[in-house]
Amino acid sequence: MTLLEIFPSLRSGMMSPRLDATVWPCETHYDDLSRITVGGVALADIADQYGTPTYVLDETEVRRRCQLYRKYFRDAEIIYAAKALLTKSVASWVSQEGLSVDVCSAGELAVALAAGVDPARIVLHGSGKPFSELEAAVNAGVGRIVIDSLTEVTLLAAVAPRRQQVLLRLSPDIDVHGHPAVRTGVIDQKFGFPLGSAAAIEAIDRVIRQPMLELVGFHCHLGSQIHDPDYYGEAVRRLIAEMARVEREYGITLPQLDLGGGHAVAYRCGDSEMNLAELADIVEDALDAACALNHFARPRISLEPGRAIVARAGVTLYRVMTVKHIEGGRTFVIADGGMNDNPRVALYGARYEAVVANRHPTGPHMTATVAGRYCEAGDILAADVSLPADLRPGEVLAIPCTGAYHHSLASSYNGVGRPPIISVRDGRCSELVRRETPADMLVRDLG
Ligand code: LLP
Repeated sequence: MTLLEIFPSLRSGMMSPRLDATVWPCETHYDDLSRITVGGVALADIADQYGTPTYVLDETEVRRRCQLYRKYFRDAEIIYAAKALLTKSVASWVSQEGLSVDVCSAGELAVALAAGVDPARIVLHGSGKPFSELEAAVNAGVGRIVIDSLTEVTLLAAVAPRRQQVLLRLSPDIDVHGHPAVRTGVIDQKFGFPLGSAAAIEAIDRVIRQPMLELVGFHCHLGSQIHDPDYYGEAVRRLIAEMARVEREYGITLPQLDLGGGHAVAYRCGDSEMNLAELADIVEDALDAACALNHFARPRISLEPGRAIVARAGVTLYRVMTVKHIEGGRTFVIADGGMNDNPRVALYGARYEAVVANRHPTGPHMTATVAGRYCEAGDILAADVSLPADLRPGEVLAIPCTGAYHHSLASSYNGVGRPPIISVRDGRCSELVRRETPADMLVRDLG
């Protein structure tokens, strides 16, 4: 008999340092066999049934996050940013929860439409939308298109079969001090038009004068992993002032203001995340003040969260291939996945936790670096994590908070196909996307 069986109350105390409630799906527990379960399904069973690496996605957690946004932003439109993760099921879950969907390519548009998302509730983004994609979008009846360049004004006007609602993307010169790869609110970056610049003024003018386009508002996206809600308040103030200028000059009252996404989630225990209640208050107060100051009617706010909807719902499973203690160096745990299924460590220096999922380890721990199987030294999954000292090949590792920008950023480098996505809910699992196989790769290779 183990100590835990004699004193079951010890279990929660022993678990808490590693199964931190802010980084795992809400329904994460240990079962009677001391294995981690998510949505009522043991992760080790999923690894056995579907192989590894495998993305696990908790449907209830995705829906819960949608509901939280709806609760805190009752009057706003919540538009799910599909670039974080898109499958037909994810698109239908978020739609059922009352969210619209933001897509940024014909591929994402096709998945959203195949899932039955109402085209009127789809928003198309992109800094260089090909003509064919604009055509696919207008023909599908996409509700709004976010204009990112002057070229697009001309192309869209030419291709639109009927008057098309558009938003214009402006960069409000707000520096959220994130990783340079994802800082999009500043002036010197490729998206949209710098607020107040000659280019922005010309773009607004051209859209308004273009009879096939109906300007319904402005859009901005400040960046990623933003945990300070004040940046959004500042964006509201700057953009409302511009909307008021348009009203004065053209007599048009723009009814929508899209503040983009970028709400931070915690990847590791102790990371700060966006507080949605605070964000709601700050946006509300900024709207009140800016609209009063500019004598402007309140527009409807849209928010475009991607990561904050799906990140925490995802857990990625790997098998330990080997454990290497490098003399004078680190201890490496080599997993059977890596940068193909999670390039975020190599791209942004992201940090993750890793936990053994097939047992509840109670013995001594070691500090190790979980590395991938791919042919690059930078192929790391989790640096300096605490893992059981007796970790063995074949055991199942779980990395939490991997629902956003993992499957969507995945590659098939070294000829290793992308992992499947298995959803879990109420003790059952279902295969949303199957594993990519060598046969899939050969289908594309025409010889
Ligand atoms: N709206 C627009 C126009 C965006 O460009 C993005 C993300 C979002 C919404 C959603 O942002 P979120 O709420 O998910 O932060 N690959 C990077 C993230 C790139 C985000 C690009 N745009 C990563 O893995 O961190």
